[in-house]
Amino acid sequence: MIYHDRRIENTFGLEAVAANYLEYCSEDELLREIPLAPKPWLHVGGGSNLLFATKRCEGTVFHNAMNAVEVIRRDEESVTVKAGGGVVWDFFVQWCVGRGYYGAENLSLIPGEVGAAAVQNIGAYGAEAKDIIESVETLDTETLQKRVFRRDECRYGYRSSFFKGGEGRRFFILSVVFSLSLKPVYNLSYGSLKDIPHQSLSLAAVREKVIATREAKLPAPEHIGSAGSFFMNPVVSRSKFEELAAGYPDMPHYPAAGDMVKLSAGWMIDRCGLKGYRLGGAGVYDKQALVLVNNGGATAEEVLSLAAEVIERVKDRFGVELRPEVQIIKNG
Ligand code: EPU
Repeated sequence: MIYHDRRIENTFGLEAVAANYLEYCSEDELLREIPLAPKPWLHVGGGSNLLFATKRCEGTVFHNAMNAVEVIRRDEESVTVKAGGGVVWDFFVQWCVGRGYYGAENLSLIPGEVGAAAVQNIGAYGAEAKDIIESVETLDTETLQKRVFRRDECRYGYRSSFFKGGEGRRFFILSVVFSLSLKPVYNLSYGSLKDIPHQSLSLAAVREKVIATREAKLPAPEHIGSAGSFFMNPVVSRSKFEELAAGYPDMPHYPAAGDMVKLSAGWMIDRCGLKGYRLGGAGVYDKQALVLVNNGGATAEEVLSLAAEVIERVKDRFGVELRPEVQIIKNG
């Protein structure tokens, strides 16, 4: 179904309208409507990782509304579940936890939808979407052919995938196939999850703990506008890390691929004294400095100026350049 001049949902709470908004409930509907859709094209999910720097998107904004979840295979050890790209991510997690399927629980309460989760490789508390993704079903919008990508073809990295930029953007995600364990496998490596008492360990207990941890640190999109972490955690060389650690021995750090070291952007922003800092209606969240928020009536210009100031302050102090995790939409 095509709508005209429709507001685009976004958790930052910024004003954004699509000249044409194509919401499709099936592959057939997408195939039928796509030849009529004016370009440029933008595919959105729940709008939880987007910053609209333009108030109006010309061309067509697509939204996948395919929201079925079904078991397609099962053996003694695992279950294979297919979810439409439009399924609300946390509904999917709750569905898995409720049925005793292991693997998605650490990703509880992340805003957004299944399709975007597979683009962004969402992650939290030691887990990433790619850990449970088996394959991604897409429509190649150039050839109008369906194409299935196995996990190893999706080029997953930290908050990134083949689908996120460049050539990959022409593949619209229809549905995602997940592989979940029927045998108890927990990932409790992250700080607060270690506190769950052994005797009460269960899928539901992990989900509850994750939800409590998120609620304590991250703004609920229905109350305070934000797009979650605004920046990615930067990855630096070991020598750069050692140089920084000499001056900041308490700096949080995590091993990354190829002997690199991942630093904590939130900690660095906090150490610059920016927690709670405001610029117009935009601000650095006072419980988690990695999150930029809309304290009410913020404009995209204010959020972008604030982001630029944060980047500059962190660069001056630590010599590390932060990069946004949030996708900035400039289509005008
Ligand atoms: N920290 C501070 N001050 C702050 C924020 C963080 O000192 O204001 C310190 C914390 O004490 C901790 C470290 O920095 O030692 C890391 O903080 P946290 O555990 O909150 O996680 P993060 O690295 O800031 C990442 C993800 C989050 C995810 C959490 C938990 C990214 C960009 N962000 O944040 O994901 O929920 O880990 O796993 O990787 C998102 O992507 O939108 C998101 C919220």
